[in-house]
Amino acid sequence: MKLISANWKMNLTPAQTREYLQKFLPLVEDIKDREILICPPFTSLCVAGEMLAGSGIRLGAQNCYHEPRGAFTGEVSLDMLKEFGVSYAIVGHSERRWIFGESDELINKKVTACLKAGVRPIICVGERLEEREAGLTFKVVETQIRLALSGVEEYTSSVDIAYEPVWAIGTGNPATPEDAQLVHAYIKDLLHQINPGHRGETRVLYGGSVSPKNASEFMRMKDVDGLLVGGASLDPESFSQIVKSF
Ligand code: 13P
Repeated sequence: MKLISANWKMNLTPAQTREYLQKFLPLVEDIKDREILICPPFTSLCVAGEMLAGSGIRLGAQNCYHEPRGAFTGEVSLDMLKEFGVSYAIVGHSERRWIFGESDELINKKVTACLKAGVRPIICVGERLEEREAGLTFKVVETQIRLALSGVEEYTSSVDIAYEPVWAIGTGNPATPEDAQLVHAYIKDLLHQINPGHRGETRVLYGGSVSPKNASEFMRMKDVDGLLVGGASLDPESFSQIVKSF
């Protein structure tokens, strides 16, 4: 099933989350033929988990830590997340990589921990502008995916991948749907190379300046299996339009 996901990033307090979901749930209650995922900040997971229970809408975390417990000040384990009803975790978002210095090695540990915990990781990959201009898009995406899945190659069907070109995030300057399609098709080929037993359940999502205006153009592409939406997911009306855009 196609997966339309909201990454709220560091936005919306618990009270604002309640208000958002009160508006959003009635707007999408008839939608059963696609999966909807909301990834609020950790502080809103409790209220969102309660409000989404029984709705069919999935709850995701924007990050996680790979250790189960212990002296890791400020971190949150997968068991803690699961108690709120979290079934997805975004791993390796470019803001985690480039603002917080997350390495491919750490991302690999998080992916591995998610798989072990039964939380489906959404692995984010994408090139920066200088890498794109140097013709390195495919190489960067390949390296990020291979390293993220190192040691867990046989589980390619238990992850989703988000292609989010860094230069397209929050800029109002999305990739063209045709360019996204090329990278998505490449990613799907790569998954078969990494895991000859790959069954193909992995959804490859596009992220980067998705809006109600352009969402359907992306969703028309053969290998675009969903979207990861930042800014345009912060308004319930706008995110519901994206969810319904195809
Ligand atoms: P924007 O939709 O705000 O460009 O953010 C995309 C993103 O980073 C989703 O994870």
